[in-house]
Amino acid sequence: MIQATKTKKSPQREINEVRNYGDGTRSHQTIRDNAAGRGDRDVSPTLPIEMTEEISSPLFEVSWDQDRQFRMDPATVSALLREQVPVLDFVKWAVTSIEPGSAESVLPLNPQSTNQHFTHQAALCVLAGDYTGGIALASLLSGWPVIGVHPVSSPQSVSMWLLRVEIKYMRPSVTDCTVTARIDPERHDRIRKRFLRGQAVVEAITIEFHNGDSLIAEATLTYFARQSEKLRSEGISTTQINSLYSLKLTSSAELIAGVRASENGRLFQDPFAAQMAGQHGVAMANRFCERTPQLGGMVAARTSHLDGALSKFLAAGGRDVVLLGVGWDMRPFRLSLPAGTRVYELDFPTTLAERNRRLSQLTLTDPQGVTRSSIPIDVRTMSLTSVLEDILPHGAPVFIAWEGMSMYFSEKEVRQILDGMLPVLRDPDSRLWIDLIDRQVVEHPEQLPSSVQNFVRGMQILGDPLTFGPSSVADFMCSVGLRSLEVTLSDVCFPEGTDAVYSSYKFCVASALTSTETAVPSTVLETWIWGGAFKTDTVKDGRSGGNW
Ligand SMILES: C[S@@+](CC[C@H](N)C(=O)[O-])C[C@H]1O[C@@H](n2cnc3c(N)ncnc32)[C@H](O)[C@@H]1O
Repeated sequence: MIQATKTKKSPQREINEVRNYGDGTRSHQTIRDNAAGRGDRDVSPTLPIEMTEEISSPLFEVSWDQDRQFRMDPATVSALLREQVPVLDFVKWAVTSIEPGSAESVLPLNPQSTNQHFTHQAALCVLAGDYTGGIALASLLSGWPVIGVHPVSSPQSVSMWLLRVEIKYMRPSVTDCTVTARIDPERHDRIRKRFLRGQAVVEAITIEFHNGDSLIAEATLTYFARQSEKLRSEGISTTQINSLYSLKLTSSAELIAGVRASENGRLFQDPFAAQMAGQHGVAMANRFCERTPQLGGMVAARTSHLDGALSKFLAAGGRDVVLLGVGWDMRPFRLSLPAGTRVYELDFPTTLAERNRRLSQLTLTDPQGVTRSSIPIDVRTMSLTSVLEDILPHGAPVFIAWEGMSMYFSEKEVRQILDGMLPVLRDPDSRLWIDLIDRQVVEHPEQLPSSVQNFVRGMQILGDPLTFGPSSVADFMCSVGLRSLEVTLSDVCFPEGTDAVYSSYKFCVASALTSTETAVPSTVLETWIWGGAFKTDTVKDGRSGGNW
């Protein structure tokens, strides 16, 4: 048994504290702390429930007081939810109290929340009930940020959604409506234990709606909650996958296609992006870009830089192209690929199936003489080497594009994935294209200009936190057996990119180090790489034109 006093080291988390909510003004303060809520204070986490060693969960526990103060403070939760779901802000819905396993909120009677016929009240009550019940459930999962509510700064988060609603309306609400959710205390331990073990929690919660003392409606709302990482491990399976999670899986591809649709024509041409993104992708892109306005420029810059690098490879005679995490990338259709080009499109099976479904709805024909193959993979759990060695011809140069992904993986995973590519990059004309974010952006955004901090927080709020970036691209590449031939800061690609975010976003073209090169220590290597035959016009991590 773990002793109740045992201290667990918890990951760094950022919780956005929102103060002064309620009077119309809000002030946001980012608190960087260990284990949401402990700040710099030396507080040993308490373990309120009996945990056995078999529970190998990374969950950390904080005392309820600390958890309430930072993660479950009613004002903070209200403000975060009102930010995410604007209709809650419109009707001035607010959380008034949160205790372990229970929550109370108020759907106020105001012009926005009523009409002459009471016809929209029912839907608003469901909305208020949904969030109140969700908060009651989240209150039991100490310290864990809920995706879509709290800023998420690590892969450890709760994915939660509503599965079922049964509601009975007794009479319309004619005054402020108090919404209460209470989970039977006898169920608290069971919920926590299932969650800690990584199992799905499915919980029916009773919600009551009152006008003063009189009950006006009663509901039972059933929720699903699980550690987000546990859902992810089901990504490769097409049979077990939850339909909501499978949509979530394709949403990043959809989002990026939506961003490309809005950037189309600036630095690149992608006439298919809008159709591939669909209405949802375009709406999501608008929302993301509203919050993180640099995203459009970053995607435009990387699209154009990668187009250029790939064209160079093809012009030099290369014909094998791997698009790793292909998403809704339309390069095979929008670039004039020479006859004989073989494109390997790698992604989750669910994503590939959806990609091909969308492609079949466009009036497209595969470019003449070009073959495309869909290769299902989960790069986190499968061996990239064996997948690539199975599909690629031996002895031919290959171009691997790993676009828009490295920053969402852990360093260990990125190293493993790059290591998995090495065997097929051995040909001296093979190339890897990868985009990377600076380590400082991931680890110490507070030391960077406010635009970078806002960008980082925006990604956290949207549930796509930046989790990895090297401090030196050249060193990092070298440490995984790769030689950076070119490192380009994204702002080089477009003159108006003056925001500090752009200079911390880099594109690298690399090839494999030969066995003798691998032995060169990194300090010497700096000079060797940048002063040597491959590159004479670039300083380390500098602005470059590539001569590779
Ligand atoms: C941000 S999107 C980028 C898509 C595309 N590269 C682009 O720039 O348009 C990330 C892509 O990586 C895929 N992906 C994420 N994790 C993956 C994994 N573990 N294995 C395979 N593909 C993955 C997603 O399904 C998605 O299509």
